[in-house]
Amino acid sequence: MLSGKIMSEVKLLNDAILRLLKERRPEHVSGEEICKSLNVTRTAIWKHMQALRENGYEIEARPRAGYTLTGIPDRLYPGEILDGLSTRFLGRKIYYRDSVSTTNETAKELARKGAGEGALVVAEEQTGGKGRLGRRWFAPKYKGIWFSLVLRPPVLPPEANQVTMLAAVAVASAIKKETGITAGIKWPNDLLVGGKKICGILTELSAEMERINYMVVGIGINVNQDETDFPEDLRESAASLKTESGRKIARVRLIQAALTEFERWYGIWLEKGFTPVLDSWKEMSISLNRPVRIHTPNKSWEGWAEDIDRDGALLLRLPGGELQRVISGEVSLRLT
Ligand code: BTN
Repeated sequence: MLSGKIMSEVKLLNDAILRLLKERRPEHVSGEEICKSLNVTRTAIWKHMQALRENGYEIEARPRAGYTLTGIPDRLYPGEILDGLSTRFLGRKIYYRDSVSTTNETAKELARKGAGEGALVVAEEQTGGKGRLGRRWFAPKYKGIWFSLVLRPPVLPPEANQVTMLAAVAVASAIKKETGITAGIKWPNDLLVGGKKICGILTELSAEMERINYMVVGIGINVNQDETDFPEDLRESAASLKTESGRKIARVRLIQAALTEFERWYGIWLEKGFTPVLDSWKEMSISLNRPVRIHTPNKSWEGWAEDIDRDGALLLRLPGGELQRVISGEVSLRLT
């Protein structure tokens, strides 16, 4: 068992070798040059190359020419996410897990232990992914982006829901910028493409009456599932960016875009308040100005979705003309 200090030295050296190989791609870099520039032995280099290969990097070794990087694995490794990420604080500290029950729980534990604003927990797979209203969230390995952000915004607890709305706007913008796909927001905060859900958001809060200790914004994006990857009971209602566009999407680039857009919108919100976020949310909404059915655990209503208020509640005009304010629930856009 390697000690923490040795483990982090191994990681630093792996990162340094990788950086060198990436910079010089497609050229070969000689073993001698790597030894000199990183001050390590040939045997050590060979071991590090093996470790990188075990992590899925394809490295060709040619006698006399040296090493060259020929393939980068489709993994959300911190080094890959940070490579080219231009955010100031969001996702600068990354907790990567190959498999986890739910990234929200991991993020809450880390936040309780003091993880700072912008810490990111990302997993290749969740075995107990959580959805809203106590539902499960299907999160298979290497197919999506399952991540949670720790935030400590200086606002009152009732305003926390604004961050969830901001997250929906940010992720929809990132998807548009990175893939060209337009996702619509279905109240409260689902992203839909072609009428099917491709992203869900689950925010959890630790707060006192007048202060937020931390919030965890958990975001799940269905990226590269094929239709048959979904359990049968989800195929009607869920899809992935791949099923909707017909092509595989680069997950690292998409999470980078999501972090960049999230930080941008978070900055706008802190500086200018909720109005710009709400305006964009409404522009991207597919559940407003139309007839809808709303289900809550106790009651269902049918009516005209007229507006959203500053708390994110849906204002529903009932057939009798009365305005019903709905705080939480599920919208059905199909009225048949
Ligand atoms: C929903 O639409 O019901 C919310 C789904 C939220 C899923 C994400 S995936 C990352 C984070 N971890 C979880 O267990 N849930 C959220």
